Amino acid sequence: MEKELLLQVKGMNKSFGPTRALKNVDLSVYRGEVRGLIGENGSGKSTVSSIVAGIQNADSGEMIFKGQPYQPATMLDAMQHGIGMIVQEAGTVLNITVAENIFIGKEKRFSKGPFVNRKAMEMAAKQAMEALGVSGIDPAMPINKLNFEARKLIEIVRVMLDEPELLIVDETTTALSQHGRDIIYSLMKKLREEGKAVLFISHDLDELIETCDVLTVLRDGDIIRSLEKSEMEHDLIKELMVGRKIEGDYYRSDFDGSFGEEVAVRVENLTVGHELENFSLELHRGEILGVGGLSGSGMHELGRAMFGVDRALTGSVTVCRSGDVIKNPVMAVQNSMGYVSKNRDTEALILHASIKDNTLLPSYDRLKVAGLISKRKADKFADEQIQNMKVKCVSKNQEVQFLSGGNKQKVVFAKWIGTGADILILDSPTRGIDIGVKTAMYQLITRLKREGKAILMISEELPELIGMCDRIMILKDGHLAREFQRSPELSEQMIIKEMI
Ligand SMILES: Nc1ncnc2c1ncn2[C@@H]1O[C@H](COP(=O)(O)OP(=O)(O)OP(=O)(O)O)[C@@H](O)[C@H]1O
Ligand SMILES: [Mg+2]
Repeated sequence: MEKELLLQVKGMNKSFGPTRALKNVDLSVYRGEVRGLIGENGSGKSTVSSIVAGIQNADSGEMIFKGQPYQPATMLDAMQHGIGMIVQEAGTVLNITVAENIFIGKEKRFSKGPFVNRKAMEMAAKQAMEALGVSGIDPAMPINKLNFEARKLIEIVRVMLDEPELLIVDETTTALSQHGRDIIYSLMKKLREEGKAVLFISHDLDELIETCDVLTVLRDGDIIRSLEKSEMEHDLIKELMVGRKIEGDYYRSDFDGSFGEEVAVRVENLTVGHELENFSLELHRGEILGVGGLSGSGMHELGRAMFGVDRALTGSVTVCRSGDVIKNPVMAVQNSMGYVSKNRDTEALILHASIKDNTLLPSYDRLKVAGLISKRKADKFADEQIQNMKVKCVSKNQEVQFLSGGNKQKVVFAKWIGTGADILILDSPTRGIDIGVKTAMYQLITRLKREGKAILMISEELPELIGMCDRIMILKDGHLAREFQRSPELSEQMIIKEMI
């Protein structure tokens, strides 16, 4: 059957000051297709897709959608034409309810005169959620009360209300649990069957190979090649992405799951909200302790409470060397703890500050000499962090808000590694990081372990837990379901069984 063109992008260019984000990009999306988009952090994936979705304009080039010239003025305009996008960063509006987020701009449907019928709106929101298999979220709840995953699901519900013919999903899945991912996968399948289309951005090769019909590779703003299903193969994709062969192991290659005897942090009988109940653990020096589970298992709350972000109802988190019981993040930092939060835009970065200031922040005291930080020292420190993590930027003085998603994540990581923190709580540390840098990050984490740092790695990604951790604790409904030791025999299946 002849494939029918849905969207065509021709000769698109976009620059941000000295950065050429897109260079003469040509891209076609056909009906009935899931088209994957992959490329290193900062290669232009979000830029091209946000132009298609009306979020920003190109400098030059043209687009044709459903056979007509297409130039959306706004995101709303794109939506009315039939293109919807789930953005990489948080896309919900804070301080309003779930239902209001879902029906934002559509309040009129529920109003008589000046009054909005809240009950009707909430009912409709519930139905819209159920239609996509999203359950357990109260539509009357303020969105701030929801975790990252639930917010992402609400965004999906909102976008799907407009029945887009082209759905763009930008690097969303790595932040979701298997349940959330399954919702997106079945949605993509449905759209494909209905003769609509999906543009799907991810750094997870297996996921792309599994879900996409074609995979387009971007490198430095250039379209390099599109691969058919039969051509999609790890080494080839990696090579096309970075322009050279990538060698070496991805994860740790040893299966020596031993670690130091000294306990770095002791968590005792910790209860946090309704999420975590009477939970205890010991994190040792020289240990990478993994924590996994489904959404709602309490794994993310554990990390937040250990760093003092959320207050524990009962129980304690003790840093053993000092004997301090952690009550807040300031105490945590004083005790040489670092925390990579899953919610990087609101909790981990000051978006309007420079890369330099963001990386320096937790190292402030350490870099001070006689109460002052020398500019030379600060500059050198920031340059080192940028180099170590290969942050793609114009300069260290660039505001972090202008970095690509993965490059923001690198800054979060760099700022805690740079402090020399010796207790690291890493929640989804490689979220949105491209495979090249991911390899470097895993090597760094392994090195930190060898240096005797205590590392807690919270992750939705089982291969990452299996590949990196000495021990893995699987949480279920706020309790420990089972603990696994590092072993070459350990498989995803064995772990999943304990999660559900
Ligand atoms: N508003 C902006 N101002 C300045 N530079 C920008 C802006 N938006 C994007 N860039 C730059 O354009 C380049 C492409 O960024 P883009 O966000 O498209 O990358 P990406 O492929 O989505 O990366 P990632 O995998 O990290 O999400 C990057 O170098 C980025 O820093
Ligand atoms: Mg991006």
